[in-house]
Amino acid sequence: MKILIILLVLGIVLVLGGLVFINSGIYDVAATKPDTGIAKWVLETTKEKSVRSRSKDIIVPNLDNESFIDIGFNNYDQMCVGCHGAPGISPSVIGEGLNPEPPDLSEVAAHMTPAELFWITQNGIKMTGMPAFGPTHSDEELWGIVAIMQKLPELSAEDYKAMKEDSEKIPQEHNHGDHSH
Ligand code: HEC
Repeated sequence: MKILIILLVLGIVLVLGGLVFINSGIYDVAATKPDTGIAKWVLETTKEKSVRSRSKDIIVPNLDNESFIDIGFNNYDQMCVGCHGAPGISPSVIGEGLNPEPPDLSEVAAHMTPAELFWITQNGIKMTGMPAFGPTHSDEELWGIVAIMQKLPELSAEDYKAMKEDSEKIPQEHNHGDHSH
């Protein structure tokens, strides 16, 4: 009985302490002050476990398909480079000012499964700058972006540049074709 009362009092003290901490304004939310220590551990572990558990039942299509790569390249180049950069391209000032920092995907994508990459691109990550692209893009487009992320580690700056030049030709040929109808 005594132990129960002690635990109860400890619990109340912890909750009150937490409320005082939150209301005091002590914690610095500035993007220029990275989270450290317990806050960093709590946020990163929560994210990792959440992504892992939510992506485990996603069925991955065959991504070795040229059409996925084409769709993915255009989307990646337009929507992701500003924050994450690409081989030979640095992130913009927006990407540089974010905290947590948008990681270089040509380094980190190799350590994630295609299902995890898909889930993050589709749903985004709360309380970070990472947007959800699911509300605005089809699954096919999202898988294309996953296919590109998986290819990034093998691409040199020249490869990326060549792919960009190729992709810029496609819409022109396409428009030309449409015109002749
Ligand atoms: C406005 C900036 C912004 C844009 C645009 C953006 N991201 Fe992110 N992204 C982030 C940030 C910030 C993080 C880090 C989140 C974190 O650490 O929890 C992130 C994290 C990720 C991660 C997880 C990496 C890891 O190591 O956990 C993936 C995958 C990702 N982004 C893919 C994409 C793709 C694909 C696109 C384009 C379709 C994209 N992002 C566009 C800001 C952005």
